[in-house]
Order: sequence, then C-alpha cells, then structure tokens
Amino acid sequence: MEFCPLSVYSLTAGSSGSPTFLTTNFSRYIMDKLIIEGGRPLSGVIDVNGSKNAALPILLSSILLEGPQDFFNVPNLRDIRTTLKLLGLLGCDCVQEGKRVHMEPGTLTPEAPYDLVRTMRASVLCLGPLIARLGRATVALPGGCAIGARPVDQHLKGLEKMGAVFTLEGGNIIGRCEHLRGAQITFDMPTVGGTENLIMAAVLADGTTQLNNAAREPEITDLANFLNSCGARIRGQGTSTIEIEGVTSLRGSTYSIMPDRIEAGTFLACVGMTGGRIVLTHCPVEALESVISVLESMGMRFEHCEQGFAASMSGPLKATEIRTQPYPGFPTDMQAQVMALMCLAQGVSIVDERIFENRFMHALELVRMGADIQINGHTALVRGVDHLTGAPVMASDLRASASLVLAGLAARGETQIRRIYHLDRGYERIEDKLSAVGARIRREHEDD
Ligand code: EPZ
Repeated sequence: MEFCPLSVYSLTAGSSGSPTFLTTNFSRYIMDKLIIEGGRPLSGVIDVNGSKNAALPILLSSILLEGPQDFFNVPNLRDIRTTLKLLGLLGCDCVQEGKRVHMEPGTLTPEAPYDLVRTMRASVLCLGPLIARLGRATVALPGGCAIGARPVDQHLKGLEKMGAVFTLEGGNIIGRCEHLRGAQITFDMPTVGGTENLIMAAVLADGTTQLNNAAREPEITDLANFLNSCGARIRGQGTSTIEIEGVTSLRGSTYSIMPDRIEAGTFLACVGMTGGRIVLTHCPVEALESVISVLESMGMRFEHCEQGFAASMSGPLKATEIRTQPYPGFPTDMQAQVMALMCLAQGVSIVDERIFENRFMHALELVRMGADIQINGHTALVRGVDHLTGAPVMASDLRASASLVLAGLAARGETQIRRIYHLDRGYERIEDKLSAVGARIRREHEDD
C-alpha cells in the first residue's frame, strides 16, 4: 500500500475551504480564533453538555406534537439556534432559556426556508415529520460538506416505500403523500439520519413499520425514548431492527436530552494529550465503551469516582490502530481527536476511516505543527514524533477543529486556530471549559 507523505509543501493555503454564506454578523463571527499556549497538564472537573446529535432530531420531531413541550439539558450551540429558528418558521414556536427549551405548537407550514436549511445539513430531518403531519414537505436538498458527499438517498428510498413521492425543483426536495403507510424498510447501510427520519415518519403512519439494518447510535435511542414519552409505540431502538406501530397523534411531554458522548470523548482525549487528571460529570460512559477502550490501549487510565468519571494520563502515549464503524464500533466523530493523540504516541499508528470519504482534513493542519502523517485513500499512517510545535492553523470541519485544539494543548509554543465557527457548532465555549481545568486558551476577534 503506497502512502503519500503529507508535507508542508503539499499544502495549499486555505485548503480547508471557506463558507459561501456570509452575512454581516456571520462575517464578524467568522473572524473569531482561538489562541492556545501548550504544555500545561489539565486538572479539575468538567460538566458534559447535552448531546448536539440527540437534540437536533429530538427538537425537529416537535413538528409531530399536538401539544406544548418542554426540553431540558439542551446545549446552546449554533446548530441548535438554527434549528429553533427553523422550527419557528415552520410553525413550532420555541424559546430557549439556558438549557431549557419550551415549544408551543402553532399552524404548521410545509416549506423549510432554503437559505436557512442550506446552512445546516441536519435540517433534512424535518422531511419525515412534515410529510407525516401535513402530507407534504419542501426542504432544500442538503449539499455535501468538508467530510464528504453525504447523500440522502436512503432517507428518500425509505419514505417512498411508505408511499411518499419526491420531485427535485430549484434545489428543493418536494415530498408528497396523503397519508404514510407502514412498510418493511432495509437500509443499504446503517445511516443515523436515515434511521431518525424514518422513525419520525413512521410514528403517525397507518400500520407498522420495520426498519432493518437500522443505525444503533445512542442518539437514536434517545429520539425513540422521547417519542415514546409522547405516546409513540417504538421498540428495538439501539438494535439494528426497529419496529414502529403508527398512532393517530402525539402529545407534548417533558424530556431531558442525553449527555453528549462526543464532547465527553473529546475532553477525555484532551487529558491524554496534556497529562494530568480530570473528572467528567454527566459522562455517558456506557455510550463511550469503544472510545475508552482505544484510549486505554494508548496508556490512559479511567475510574468511576464520587464526583463522576475520572480520566488520567502519565507517561508516554502508545501507538494504536482504529477503524471507524457504525455504533457500537469506534465512532467516526472521534477519529480526528484520536489522530491528534497518535501524533505524540511512541510507534506507528493506523487510522482506517470507513464512514466518510474525506475526513482527514485535520491531518494537513497537524502536519503544519510537526506531525508525521501519510495518507492513502481512507487510511492514514501516523508516526509518533517527540513533540508538536504551535503554529497558525485553520479549522475545516467540526471534529477536525477539535483535533487542532488537542494538538495546541500539547504543542510547544502558541497555536492560533482560525475559522472556529466550525468548532462552535458542536462545542459550547470550549475555551471556558478548558481554561477552568488549567489550559491556557482564549478566544480573540480578528478585526475585519
Ligand atoms: C450523523 O450524520 C451525525 N450527525 C454525524 O456527526 C456522524 O458523523 C454520522 O451520523 C455518523 O455517525 C448528526 O447526528 C447531526 P449517516 P449523518 O447518515 O446522519 C452514507 C458531527 O461531527 N449515507 O449515518 O449524516 C453517508 O454518506 C457529525 O457531529 C448514504 O450513502 O450520517 C456516510 O458515508 C458529522 N446515503 C454513511 O452513510 C444516505 O441516505 C453514514 O452517514 C445516508 C447516509
């Protein structure tokens, strides 16, 4: 297998792409950057936020409810604010106060505003609930993103099996169906969004739907548990066969979003980079088994303690191998963070990225900091180096940004990370949480 060595010379400035959707506020926001002075061990307690990837589908499933709803432990992130704005425009008025969101159902409209939907892929998750409630939906076809094409063919195929008909007009998916009917649906591959969209479509369908080869992620279980609290009849969530018995209507309830396993895993990896000991409160340990197992293989130690879940690291990191897989395998959303750890591990590590076709953008930036990484297709070879050196780097996608924060925490000298609007999509004020446990990290606005 021929690996192509990444060197600074193979980099092209701004290779991480740039957003095309700018407004005055956004262009101001886009200039934020993080400044990190590396080399300080972490020590202290971090509270884990509510899960972004559970909150997005759960909030959008509000479209299905005929009564008011209260959500708790909702993270305050850019994508969440976008989702609440979208819900308001669709007819579900939402108010977020801290971690609480109150939703009042109003008169629904089937048209999701194109420009808003284009800014957030997860908006496609309103397709199933809108067709289920209104018999039609107009939603922008999600584009690809930095990590891959990310098609939605599985979503559409499944909905067609339930009786929906789709046309593509002016970049919008237009779906119609008088009343969805239960069906037997087998996904070509486990898809998180596809499973979520079809669950939300099936809860109000005529008859029973069975999803085969369904994704098993904990966020899907959280969505199903939420819908069951509103009167849905879903069984098998967390397994690859999910059965949904359609009901005539769903009431509102009160529900607390599960903790964010990827935010938690990211903080566990931070202490692997810097050494020291941190305790996570509200850590979804059972949803992190594959991640904890890899971090243990690299020399980290974990224990339950009175305050929560403790992670510690002393001594050298050890090389390891990971292959990203659907849950309960190793999550692709932790691949970039573990690659940062591999850069400082003794020996040669291997990353096999099996979920997305272009999820090594962080490697280019880690090389700027002195990492030794060779890429060949979906495989990366990482030779551990003695140290990383701080440098100006560019975030390209959410988890790539996190890996640059990890690298900056361990690097000698100062690291500047630009375009951190990517990071803010999934981490709420990460600089505050890390500063509180000893990191020297701050956010700066760059004047236009
Ligand atoms: C969800 O994305 C997550 N996003 C992603 O997290 C996560 O990386 C991904 O699942 C995999 O775990 C949210 O939950 C909001 P998929 P999703 O459908 O649903 C292919 C983050 O960093 N596929 O499970 O879009 C697809 O191309 C984000 O928080 C099709 O081919 O992922 C990919 O190769 C990034 N056709 C694979 O399946 C389809 O119709 C898995 O995608 C759907 C998917």
